[in-house]
Amino acid sequence: MTSFNWKPEYSVGNDAIDNDHKGLFALVSELGEADISGGFLDDILQRLEDYAEGHFAREEALMRKIGYPEYDAHVHEHSAFVEWLETVQKTYRRAAESPFLIGDVVNDFLKEWLVEHILEEDMKYRDFINSKKAGRRDQI
Ligand SMILES: [Fe+2]
Repeated sequence: MTSFNWKPEYSVGNDAIDNDHKGLFALVSELGEADISGGFLDDILQRLEDYAEGHFAREEALMRKIGYPEYDAHVHEHSAFVEWLETVQKTYRRAAESPFLIGDVVNDFLKEWLVEHILEEDMKYRDFINSKKAGRRDQI
């Protein structure tokens, strides 16, 4: 079974962004183990909204600062996350599905996000930062 624990090798070299990522890994673990009630799901959705607002802005500012060439594609993925979250919130508010079912959908999406976004896309800008640093060292 894949474990969803943040590991030091996932560090992008920025404490604030690493802390955001650690928080999301922790949220996915909590969600996977929880008995999902309405109150719990309210809390999870609020935390995801806060995450999307604060974290994506931090990452996008960093990517602009370093002149990351895949900025647009990366921002596009962040926008897709925000749209997905809005859809989930609407479904939940309309009580169109049970909290249990929505919790399940959220859990599946986030597990995929950890693997396909954080461990793949975010690692690309991490590698870009590292290659820039290595380049600078070569010039010394
Ligand atoms: Fe990202």
